[in-house]
Amino acid sequence: MHLDLSEFTARQARPLRVKMDEFQRERRLKHLIFASQLELEHLNRLQRLADIIRQLSKTKKGSDALRSLLSHKRAMLYFTQPSTRTFLSFMAACQILGLTCNEVRDPATSSEMKRESPLDSIRMFSSYFDVIIMRSPVAGFSECCAYLMNDLEKHEMRSVPIINAGSGSEEHPTQALLDIYTIQRTFQFDSANGTTAGRLPDLSKKFPGLTPGLNNKTYLFCGDLGRGRTVRSLATTLTNYQNVRMFFVSPDHEKLKLDLALRKRLESAGVEFHEFDSLDATWQSQPILALTDCLYMTRIQMEHNSAADSAAMNEMDLSPYHLSAARLEKLRDYAPILHPFPRDSVVQEIPTFVDADPRAMYFRQARNGMWVRAALLVHLFDVADQLLFLHSDFYGV
Ligand code: NCD
Repeated sequence: MHLDLSEFTARQARPLRVKMDEFQRERRLKHLIFASQLELEHLNRLQRLADIIRQLSKTKKGSDALRSLLSHKRAMLYFTQPSTRTFLSFMAACQILGLTCNEVRDPATSSEMKRESPLDSIRMFSSYFDVIIMRSPVAGFSECCAYLMNDLEKHEMRSVPIINAGSGSEEHPTQALLDIYTIQRTFQFDSANGTTAGRLPDLSKKFPGLTPGLNNKTYLFCGDLGRGRTVRSLATTLTNYQNVRMFFVSPDHEKLKLDLALRKRLESAGVEFHEFDSLDATWQSQPILALTDCLYMTRIQMEHNSAADSAAMNEMDLSPYHLSAARLEKLRDYAPILHPFPRDSVVQEIPTFVDADPRAMYFRQARNGMWVRAALLVHLFDVADQLLFLHSDFYGV
């Protein structure tokens, strides 16, 4: 059938809104390729499923029951780009639900070394496995794999869901899922999830207008905004919420600043956003950090640099993008600090002393990835009703 990615170029070039339906099955996700697929209804549903999985996992009986949900399914983790958290949390998510998983992490160990096309590899995986979870340095590759699966389905051949676990510097929709889930839990005010638990009455005296959930908030993104796929996917997903304002802080370098595509996406979603070149910047005479409800730090992704970029960035003063003690002091006293990780241990955009701050949410954020990725698998395999049944059986709710 398809041997080479160029056969999909025309389909890829279509506007997102036109192709979106091809990744859905009615209201349910069929593949997860783009963050724009994640509508409020999906986000709420997945968060609810993640909460249930988290609760059931607390006991042996609950964990055993969860493991029976998808014990008849197998997952392929095809990760040809470095990954620690995304890979391991997907693997843990599979284990929670009883899926068997296998992995290919280095194409040098696969038949691609014998000049097999990556699309043939994908089709082979779909012969043995029931879902393909993939990370690739090639932007658009997972999208092409989803088209391949759709074409196979059209010809009544075996086809499986594709999950994009990071494509080039373009998209990372499941990271957006776990980021949103973490923010939602933080602003629930009644959970045991750190900074805000039980504090709404006090906090809203000091910060009138503070409400539960993700609406009515200012989100500050800092670091490599141009090449950070997590920034692009989270900012896109946040456009689902009401009265959201975004601050973007990055060095004034073409590769690191907000890119045109995201800027246009935010403009067309009617989101208010502002760009700055330091965490010390002010907006309407107030420090931006003092106006921030949620801080999203990222590392500068040096691995994408050309020789010229490296030369320019080595000269750059990156200190305006570090979370120093003085800056931490200015940040609102409930504002969660997120980072997709890895953080750069040399540059230290978040120094390790911040880890002890109750607002540091990044380790919880990474763990949330496991629950919400398990929820995504439950959704894709359409076993949410079975999960809800299990839950009501255990807890009578
Ligand atoms: C990120 C990624 O791979 O895009 N990491 C992750 O998945 N948690 C961010 C990064 O590499 O900086």
